[in-house]
Amino acid sequence: MALRIFGTGSYLPPKVVTNDDLAQSLDTSDEWIYTHTGIHARHVAEADDCTSTMAAKAGRAAIEASGLDASEIGLVIVATSTPDYNTFPSTACLVQNALGLKECGAYDLQAACAGFIYALEQARGWATLHPEKKALVVGAETLTRVVDWHDRASCILFGDGAGAVVLGDDGTGDKVKTLSVLGADGSGFAFISREGGTRIAPAPGQVPIPHMTLQGRPVFNFAVRTMDAVIMQLCVQAGITPVELDRIFAHQANGRIIDAVSRRMDLALSKFYMNIETTGNTSAASIPVAIDEAIRKGDLRDGMKIVLVGFGAGLTYGGMLMNWPRL
Ligand code: UT7
Repeated sequence: MALRIFGTGSYLPPKVVTNDDLAQSLDTSDEWIYTHTGIHARHVAEADDCTSTMAAKAGRAAIEASGLDASEIGLVIVATSTPDYNTFPSTACLVQNALGLKECGAYDLQAACAGFIYALEQARGWATLHPEKKALVVGAETLTRVVDWHDRASCILFGDGAGAVVLGDDGTGDKVKTLSVLGADGSGFAFISREGGTRIAPAPGQVPIPHMTLQGRPVFNFAVRTMDAVIMQLCVQAGITPVELDRIFAHQANGRIIDAVSRRMDLALSKFYMNIETTGNTSAASIPVAIDEAIRKGDLRDGMKIVLVGFGAGLTYGGMLMNWPRL
């Protein structure tokens, strides 16, 4: 059996907030943010958008690009840390409803910024069991609604958006060798977190909206170490060297993280697809948004050997090595 990605789609909300905009209300500057992160601007959802609406727009675009009929979709997974509801119903059920999909499983998956890779891996397993159906896998986030806009060390990083792929059996029966890694290091749970779950019993009276808290340095170091290790592990398993990769789609968290990975691996920075300058960190959406953009720009073409690699709160990480668009 051979699986493939039939179509991709993405959606970024139209409102753009630049670093200069942020500097009007925050003790920061375009110069500091750009030199420390590679970000100039990010998209921010307005009142008419939220995670499910952006996910549905990206999902609809992916189904259209696939050329398949929506009735073929048998599963919707939405990777997100910013669901519409805290915590049910799932955002995936809202997306299923918005897209008018019938007789279709739907659930959310939370592995923070590595969520899209986790979701892709689950969908691969499901698709091998259900070759007659296709899976819609979405990464979608509205992080700008949970960051602390007074915390200059974290709010400047994040943006909103959604990216999606449709995948399933291509019916050729070819043997395809896609390799993957999923991992976690829960000892780093406190480095990126957001209260609001059931960990703490609420004080009587007030229920504040909890903000994300971030310790940037340890996450930065974890990211560089882990992405290097995952790319190397996948290449060793595939019997290739990283130079043989055509393109690496690394989670867009910070341009300096990707720069450090490329230097550590002695691998040209041009191998790493980058769009963080205009998107900021869109967490689980970052990899599928980048993939969809790369396809539209002609930077991702059939037959390319690529790696997807991400990390995030948890701490989690994951990677996949594939010959685009087969997996
Ligand atoms: O998807 C995963 C999500 N998390 C991440 O990806 C985070 C990874 N970490 C990072 O991207 C970086 O650690 C940051 C961009 C968050 C911070 O960059 P840094 O180079 O690690 O800066 P720092 O936290 O060590 O702070 C250096 C200085 C501090 O001032 P002092 O104490 O040296 O006077 C900060 O207060 O920079 C200051 N600073 C800022 N200054 C202007 C922190 N944020 C800002 C800011 N503007 N926005």
